[in-house]
Amino acid sequence: MKKIGFIGMGNMAQAMVRGFTQSEKINGRDIYAFAPNQEKLIKNCGILGINPCATAAEAVEKSEMIFMACKPYQIDDVIKTLGSKLGGKSIVSVAAGWDFDRYRKALPESTKVQCIMPNTPVSVSKGVLLIEEENDLPEEDRNFLLELLESVGKVIELPSRLMEAGSAVSGCGPAFMDMIIEAIGDAAVKNGIQRKQAYEMVCQTMIGSAELQLKTGIHPGQLKDNVCSPGGTTIRGVAALEEAGMRSAFIKAIDAVIKG
Ligand SMILES: NC(=O)c1ccc[n+]([C@@H]2O[C@H](COP(=O)([O-])OP(=O)(O)OC[C@H]3O[C@@H](n4cnc5c(N)ncnc54)[C@H](OP(=O)(O)O)[C@@H]3O)[C@@H](O)[C@H]2O)c1
Repeated sequence: MKKIGFIGMGNMAQAMVRGFTQSEKINGRDIYAFAPNQEKLIKNCGILGINPCATAAEAVEKSEMIFMACKPYQIDDVIKTLGSKLGGKSIVSVAAGWDFDRYRKALPESTKVQCIMPNTPVSVSKGVLLIEEENDLPEEDRNFLLELLESVGKVIELPSRLMEAGSAVSGCGPAFMDMIIEAIGDAAVKNGIQRKQAYEMVCQTMIGSAELQLKTGIHPGQLKDNVCSPGGTTIRGVAALEEAGMRSAFIKAIDAVIKG
């Protein structure tokens, strides 16, 4: 079993560790983590059952595979500080805006790298994990990584040029889905349904509709047509959503992410 380290133990790193340990693909005692706020780190590591480290160098020394999970703008400094300590290690980056080419320019030659883009549902093993086609991870490390990632969600490989668009869809997607859940939930509450039941209805409808599409492969437009009877109630709701610009709102949201 390989030992893995995390540089940064914020929202995404915690979601991944929760998913990895729940899947039992790795034991918490084989996971090391560093973050500057030691008090917060020790508390979070205690909850997750993993090992806090006093420095980034300690996390790197104790691990064979290091997940770069700090903010994208911090990575240059982290690499400079660690320098040759990264030699011979495999880096797995979750940072937005960092791809294989950018790492290759910044890392020592003997450090291998794979960029991925997870999303927060990895914490309940229902994530989407985009992995960049271009990488130089040794085969053994890549197989180990794939096994870990597959235990917490659906792994989808993309060429570098599509990682940004993919990240806008699945990396940012949970925020968009949460907004839909909250909005339809508000509508349900407005019409007298208890908030808890409203969210149960919306979430289960979202999960069910998604599974129906994935399992049958039927075009989503066709699935929508199937529940719109002529002159019926659903088509009135569909028309209201179109009038409010629902489709263009989502297209604009994804474009806004990509254009930065
Ligand atoms: N959140 C998402 O949905 C999501 C999705 C896909 C990818 N990502 C990527 O995941 C990365 C982390 O995002 P996040 O949402 O988890 O952010 P976050 O919650 O703000 O966590 C950032 C972590 O980095 C640590 N940190 C700060 N300065 C550092 C330094 N100099 N060296 C090492 N660690 C440092 C922070 O520690 P302190 O708290 O001690 O300052 C914290 O543990 C980003 O690169 C982001 O692009 C996030």
